[in-house]
Amino acid sequence: MTALKDRLNDAALLKTESFIAGSWHGGSGGGMDVTNPANRQVLATIPDAGEAGARQAVAAAADAFKTWKKTSVFERAKILRRWHDLITENADDLATLITAEMGKPFKEARGEVLYGASFITVSAEEAMRLHGETLHVPTPGARGWTIHQPVGVVGCITPWNFPSAMIARKCAPAMAAGCTVVVKPAPETPLTALAMAELASRAGIPAGVFNVVCGDAEPIGKVLTGSDDVAMIGFTGSTEVGRILMRQAADTIKRVALELGGNAPFIVMDDADLDAAADGIVASRFRAAGQTCVSANRIIAHAPIADALEAALKARIEKLKVGDGFADGTAIGPLIHDEAVARVDALVRDAEKGGARVLTGGRSLADELGGAFYAPTLVAGGTPELEIFSSEIFGPVASVYRAESEDEILRLANDTPYGLAGYVYTRDVGRVHRMSEGLDYGMVGVNAAMVGSPMTPFGGMKQSGIGREGGKWGVEEFTELKFVLVGGIDQ
Ligand code: SIN
Repeated sequence: MTALKDRLNDAALLKTESFIAGSWHGGSGGGMDVTNPANRQVLATIPDAGEAGARQAVAAAADAFKTWKKTSVFERAKILRRWHDLITENADDLATLITAEMGKPFKEARGEVLYGASFITVSAEEAMRLHGETLHVPTPGARGWTIHQPVGVVGCITPWNFPSAMIARKCAPAMAAGCTVVVKPAPETPLTALAMAELASRAGIPAGVFNVVCGDAEPIGKVLTGSDDVAMIGFTGSTEVGRILMRQAADTIKRVALELGGNAPFIVMDDADLDAAADGIVASRFRAAGQTCVSANRIIAHAPIADALEAALKARIEKLKVGDGFADGTAIGPLIHDEAVARVDALVRDAEKGGARVLTGGRSLADELGGAFYAPTLVAGGTPELEIFSSEIFGPVASVYRAESEDEILRLANDTPYGLAGYVYTRDVGRVHRMSEGLDYGMVGVNAAMVGSPMTPFGGMKQSGIGREGGKWGVEEFTELKFVLVGGIDQ
């Protein structure tokens, strides 16, 4: 097996220690192995920075905040643009790290790196457009205005499914606004985070402004959520963990921005372009082997076109090539680990028991490829009582439901505590309005299967989260809106 450093153009990007206050730190705790899910190769062992490392990083970030918040926004934007340029110049190496530590196909991983980097330039530009307003005030002889100020130190807890993009999407707007950050990457994918730290340092981001603390999630999370020196927590991950973090953050009344789980409906109406809809479903459902929060989790087919849609999906899904993310032509890599396969398979088996039919796939590929691989699967004929309807699948399984009317479709689509992304394919302009307004989701794609972009608001309603990332909203999220009232002006 090729050693990871031999796959990199710049071997110095392979870092194996936390990055605190501008330098590399071992930890007091034991090491955590980072493993390639495709073949179980141990890629690196990272010392656990633990509580002590987290406290050091918070102290460094609090100290750096004093000067970073006063650094002009032009200067901050210039430095961030250099970080962007270094990330894009080293996109191949970052993609290699992503494919190695979480399995997504190299081309997709490279796309993620560029997607993430685009949040850096947009945040740098939006920060320059952050402005307050002059207000009318009722007091005679007084004036009032608002200003945006950076909230302070932000704890960014990021997931393994987008090891670079979720760091960029949180940290770039925070730093552009004048905040400093402590990133706690997922234990599965620290290598991408540490390479981004190395590039941050090369870009001239001052010591303490961008810190990465690796280790066991619980103690580090407790330091970040409990510290008086941390003003805000930004988290992407499951609703279950988001709830815990929110509770922990309550003691210090911290601000939270949470991008949590989803259970996206993907609606296809009888007037839709079926080929476009089937392509959209495959793109949405099977991206990152189905391990994204915005993935088409429930395909709701208008009854008249349900058979045709199922056939179109089956044909496409059977063409998806499963394999190692470094192999040519791979469309679906491994899941994050073998337990994820067991969980996905249990959902499929349960659906079968409940009367649904497996039209293709529906089995582990452990014998052919390894324990983390699962065959791309199509399930049809399910009902809302099934667990696969209410759970976030997080695997390469598309599940189709049928409904007769627009009302029934909307009712089914909204029958979930989640509200991140929803999709509808229709060419009827009335339906476009009724359904996009009727879907209780933070983002709705109409004849569009990818809703994330650096210029637009990304985030959910209900138990899918709080706050928005992207565009001006993503930058404002990291600021306090202060009101200034000045009296005694007209003597
Ligand atoms: C996510 O699923 O967490 C992010 C997906 C995206 O940005 O498109």
